[in-house]
Amino acid sequence: TGNRTFTMIKPDAVENGHIGAILDKISAAGFKIVAMKFTHLSKRDAEAFYAVHNERPFFGELVSFMTRGPIVAAVLEKDNAVEDFRALIGATNPADAAEGTIRKLYATSLGENAVHGSDSDENAVIESAFHFSGREIF
Ligand code: CMP
Repeated sequence: TGNRTFTMIKPDAVENGHIGAILDKISAAGFKIVAMKFTHLSKRDAEAFYAVHNERPFFGELVSFMTRGPIVAAVLEKDNAVEDFRALIGATNPADAAEGTIRKLYATSLGENAVHGSDSDENAVIESAFHFSGREIF
């Protein structure tokens, strides 16, 4: 076991057919999937999940993007999960992401950046609980 992070494969990456490739990269990097679902966020869900950003100018755009189509939500386990997963996905803006990172390979733009990764252990717990009950985490 190790500690945990929370991820979403966002609507752009799902639309572009990258679910399988992204899950392969996650597994190859040593993360164990302990929870996973294919789901579609409602406007209320997205507004609640991203409440921390609700004063930002891009909030409306973010909510409409994240509700545009289905996503894959998952909880991942590995030693140093939060930091190692953020390294695997790369910078928020794919234009700044390192070669070989998930966002460099599969993201479309700053707003449509293919994947989410929790930014702290505390937020990983909050975000995992937003999407999964205890009985859905194995
Ligand atoms: P993430 O860090 O997963 O969660 C917040 C998201 O807001 C971020 O990914 C981006 O997709 C999005 N975002 C951040 N900055 C901007 C911006 N300037 N314009 C549009 N979207 C943004």
